Amino acid sequence: MEYISSKNIFLLLRDTLKLIDRRPMDHGSRTGYLFCKMLECKGGYEQYEIADFLMLATLHDIGAYKTDRMGDRLTYEFKEPMPHSSYGFLFLKNITPLESMARMVLYHRVPCTKIPRDDFQYAAETEILSLAEAAEVYHLALGEGFDHTMFRRQEGTFYSTEALDLLDAAVERFDVFSHLNDESYQNELDEILEYMIFTNEDKKKFIQTIMFCIGFRSETSLVDAVTSVCVSRLLSKKLNLAPGNEEKVYYASLIHDIGMLSIPASIIDSPKKLTKEEFELVKTHVSREEKILLNRMDSEVVAIATAHHERLDGSGYPKGLTDKRLSREQCILQLSDVATALTCVRPYRETYTKDEVIEILSEEAASGRLNKQITDCFIESYDEIISQASKEAAEALDIYKALGKKFKSVYGDSKNRNN
Ligand SMILES: [Fe+2]
Ligand SMILES: [Fe+2]
Ligand SMILES: [Fe+2]
Repeated sequence: MEYISSKNIFLLLRDTLKLIDRRPMDHGSRTGYLFCKMLECKGGYEQYEIADFLMLATLHDIGAYKTDRMGDRLTYEFKEPMPHSSYGFLFLKNITPLESMARMVLYHRVPCTKIPRDDFQYAAETEILSLAEAAEVYHLALGEGFDHTMFRRQEGTFYSTEALDLLDAAVERFDVFSHLNDESYQNELDEILEYMIFTNEDKKKFIQTIMFCIGFRSETSLVDAVTSVCVSRLLSKKLNLAPGNEEKVYYASLIHDIGMLSIPASIIDSPKKLTKEEFELVKTHVSREEKILLNRMDSEVVAIATAHHERLDGSGYPKGLTDKRLSREQCILQLSDVATALTCVRPYRETYTKDEVIEILSEEAASGRLNKQITDCFIESYDEIISQASKEAAEALDIYKALGKKFKSVYGDSKNRNN
């Protein structure tokens, strides 16, 4: 897939999660840096393997987005680490292409003596990750008072001798903590990322992962996202788009609302109609996502994604583009987004009936806001499109709920603090 490089897939996933809260990803990046430098001291890895480990290490706390309060790191890392470790493991194993490494996340806060060895190929790396993340947390918390040899007190009980030796080596050889202090580690991470190689299949799955991150905020938003992906895909087919353009609409639809992750859940799930101020804030989601998409993804895909609230008569946002500057592909996503909003459940109102949806869409097309041909195509195939979209949204939600169910069967509702 030439629409995005492997390196940019990683950056996009990381920055999408930063829209929710940047702390776990900043911690993940610094931990990833320490981890990679320790692996370099260990030796025996190809550069693309180090790049894969960097991705895993950056995402090692992804579970915390679902299970914990982001600001309460001391609790989820040290006092009660299993909820975020378990949810992160389930998410990486079931949603992303990082399946084979996912157990590293499950055991990243487990004493070295308890990490399984027989059937786990990454046991040694997990021990190293465990020390890298603890070193990052304490280095940040203690500042000048930090001494990396402090972890020797738990040698052989929590941290392995090999991992502790590798941290010593990374300090001696690379002066790693100075590079964290002056931020120069970021340039080194950039160099490692150049070696990231994903297959097209993996890239596709990672972009779907980015869409699944919308579920960290709310399941309603995930249903909306999957519905509009399906509606726009079926419309592209029915309107006989060239295969390349069809694909561009598909990728644009997957990521078109990731900017919503930067909007507080209290506003998105508000049972009342939004105030003017709240609506102005919601509108910023497009420019926020444009910032992280530009220069990373194919410019036409970005243009389709970021025009989903534009309207042909210029009344849309954020740029007020008019029909002359809007392509068919952009208009397809606009229609899909509106149709999704009308057909999916909203906290502040009942779902519209089919007749009401058709009436609203017809009015939008007649008043020159939505493309008439695309609107007619949707209305003609309403039943087929909506039943397929509901089916796909239910399937996606099932995958998501299955993660929650497995998680709750071990930890119960009380640990799942965001729910
Ligand atoms: Fe961590
Ligand atoms: Fe953690
Ligand atoms: Fe939107």
